[in-house]
Amino acid sequence: MEGILLHFDDEARVAAKLAPAADLRAAVIERHRFPDGELRLRLPAVLPPQVIVLRGLHEPNEKLVELLLTARSARTLGARRLTLVAPYLGYMRQDAAFRPGEAVSQTIVGGFLAELFDALITVDPHLHRVLHLSDAVPVEQAVALSAAELLASVALAHRERPLLLGPDEEAAQWVEAGARAFGLDFAVCTKHRHGDHEVEIRLPEVDVSGRAVVILDDVASTGRTVARAATLLRAAGAASVDLAVTHALFAGDALATVRAAGVEHVWSTDAIAHETNVASVTALIAAALSRLAEHSDD
Ligand code: R5P
Repeated sequence: MEGILLHFDDEARVAAKLAPAADLRAAVIERHRFPDGELRLRLPAVLPPQVIVLRGLHEPNEKLVELLLTARSARTLGARRLTLVAPYLGYMRQDAAFRPGEAVSQTIVGGFLAELFDALITVDPHLHRVLHLSDAVPVEQAVALSAAELLASVALAHRERPLLLGPDEEAAQWVEAGARAFGLDFAVCTKHRHGDHEVEIRLPEVDVSGRAVVILDDVASTGRTVARAATLLRAAGAASVDLAVTHALFAGDALATVRAAGVEHVWSTDAIAHETNVASVTALIAAALSRLAEHSDD
């Protein structure tokens, strides 16, 4: 593919895997932080028409400013088609104003990204009431990949015929896809969240006693969802409880909380760099980039 993959120094490892897989030349965006906290970025002085920007949007606030500066500069340096690869897409969970006056972050951040980029590739975006990525981020081409099959294959490599369990209704899409790919059983819990750290879960009406259960979800943030489900599963007699998750956010004490609740293995993808990464989404993203290049006019 003719084009360039621009990335920041803290994502050099992902870029080093993605660039050869997508047949792209990689270049780092130099970043200088001024004493007052402002940023100065420096891109290659001349850019080809096809520019792919890699920026995972975990801890997103400053990264959104980086994307603003990068995308606007790239256009002036020769880019005609700008694609954002954000393996993790932040700000997708607030898709409505739950109380009067709340900012609907998904619409605002999605609109901001769509003004900067022509295309977006991400993995397992958290879409709930807004079903399609292109509605949340209205770019010309919006590609939502899924790591569900990849994670189900990891679960299957470690456990015999595991039951894949979605900890909430949104996870139904992922457990169903993962289970279908390998002919596994799956089930879905119901969840009510009362606060950042307060989660109430009801297990589905399936017999989990003596079974290897793998909780499969898009995100583990505070870890409370997984921990609550794991506690209930252990009490119901599950032989083992593991976690397979696309995005290992694991804020604060989340990983310790998950383990303390009886989760043995934690398997995640490298969509967010984390000590629990065991599977790579690079090949999925590279294939998506090739498909986009085939369908683009440039
Ligand atoms: C929400 O519906 C997501 O799929 C995750 O279940 C949720 O974001 C996990 O959050 P936490 O780890 O904070 O419970």
